[in-house]
Amino acid sequence: IPVDPFDLVIFGATGDLATRKILPGLYRRDLAGQLPEAARIIGAARSEFDDGAWRSEVRAAITEHVPADRVHAAALDRFMARLSYVRVDATGEDGWQELAQKMRPGMVHAFYFSVGPGLFGDLAHRLHRHGMNSDGCRIVVEKPFGHDLASARALNATLAAHFDEQQIYRIDHYLGKETVQNLMAVRFGNMLFEPLWNAQYVDHIQITVAEAVGVAGRGGYYDKSGAMRDMVQNHMMQLLCLIAMEPPYAFEPDAVRDEKLKVIRALDPVAPADIVRGQYGAGNGHASYVDDVDNPKSFTESYIALKAHVSSWRWKGTPFYLRTGKRLRARTSEIAITFKDPPHSIFGEQEGQRSNALVIRLQPNEGIKLKVTIKEPGPGGMRLIEVPLDMSFAEALGPGAEDIPDAYERLIMDVIRGNQTLFMRGDEVEAAWAWTDPIVAAWQARGDRPQPYDPGSSGPEDALMLMHRDGRRWREVRP
Ligand code: BG6
Repeated sequence: IPVDPFDLVIFGATGDLATRKILPGLYRRDLAGQLPEAARIIGAARSEFDDGAWRSEVRAAITEHVPADRVHAAALDRFMARLSYVRVDATGEDGWQELAQKMRPGMVHAFYFSVGPGLFGDLAHRLHRHGMNSDGCRIVVEKPFGHDLASARALNATLAAHFDEQQIYRIDHYLGKETVQNLMAVRFGNMLFEPLWNAQYVDHIQITVAEAVGVAGRGGYYDKSGAMRDMVQNHMMQLLCLIAMEPPYAFEPDAVRDEKLKVIRALDPVAPADIVRGQYGAGNGHASYVDDVDNPKSFTESYIALKAHVSSWRWKGTPFYLRTGKRLRARTSEIAITFKDPPHSIFGEQEGQRSNALVIRLQPNEGIKLKVTIKEPGPGGMRLIEVPLDMSFAEALGPGAEDIPDAYERLIMDVIRGNQTLFMRGDEVEAAWAWTDPIVAAWQARGDRPQPYDPGSSGPEDALMLMHRDGRRWREVRP
């Protein structure tokens, strides 16, 4: 789908997200021929740069973050010519006039708030004061969108004072991941799965987002958030919604977001016994969590596992097991839908027989696997074995898979196109906090301490028990 010419302003243009993700992503879209001739990108930050100095920074960032075979001199020069820089003070008056003059009439205007949430209000307010919140313009805001329900509400109100909901793009980068969207394609583009997609046929669902990295370098932010606020309230909640939601009437922003909102509102409160929190210790040459965040008394969780229930006709009784953590054995994210056993086995009880499962692998090696039962080849009688129908995107799609845009690239292009389907609506974020707040409040009231786990393991022992006591088990965390 073509993209209209645009002026994209990146506030926080010299920051980590801009240099690591946003600008390399825009370069890749330019390389793919997706940026219109007249597209311009304006860096805005407090650093004393001029156009030339900022361009050199961006050039270096692209060389560092884009694979060498994609960095072509001519494409890089073309991209550089789109860039300019304005020194802007988010909390003062410097630079705003100059920025306003740079915005060309007749273009799509987008403002990316790639800054700490403490500055969102200032930016919104000054854009308004300098006449830049025109009707068609868009603002893009990053997580964390609030710290709890009260702060998320306040933030929504601040933004709403100057922008309509249709102009606000709240990013959850998980929604931009290829396989996350594939989840919807698999569910609603096939006849095969949807009839079985309910409590009658699904035994349980597992959502795993395991990371091998620790929190070093972001300790200040992370120690105030923990895994529940950093990952579950947003990314994992979005995954759960896409699995649990009813079919939207169309793949359109409000149709999809209405259905997700219903899921969040149908989530039961989680009992303390259904939550396991963990914190990584030292080992394998890595510092412990408390050393990484430089807070020896920290009770913040770097791991969480919990059992959630969606109280709806479709899902009553089917548990959703969620787990996420840092410094685990491998970086691997997947969703596994485990189906119930056939009602009666005509082959008698057999050892090793397993249930059907649909496993959607988000990263790395994106793909889809369906575990099915077949007869073991050979004359030994009717012995059943489990085999995977395995599809890796890289193999199935061949060289084309390399050009798949990463999450940020896709989402930025959606902002320019004016498509909010993959962005969170204000009421959705608030509903997610409304579910999260009592969970956090309960462990804070109890003075709950996370359990230690070994770095490189698959999390604390009690997380295994969370499933064992239900007669189930987690899938292995494997590279
Ligand atoms: C971010 C979290 O939103 O997502 C990080 O703040 C986390 O703590 C990251 O590491 C994971 O993203 P991805 O795309 O690497 O799975």
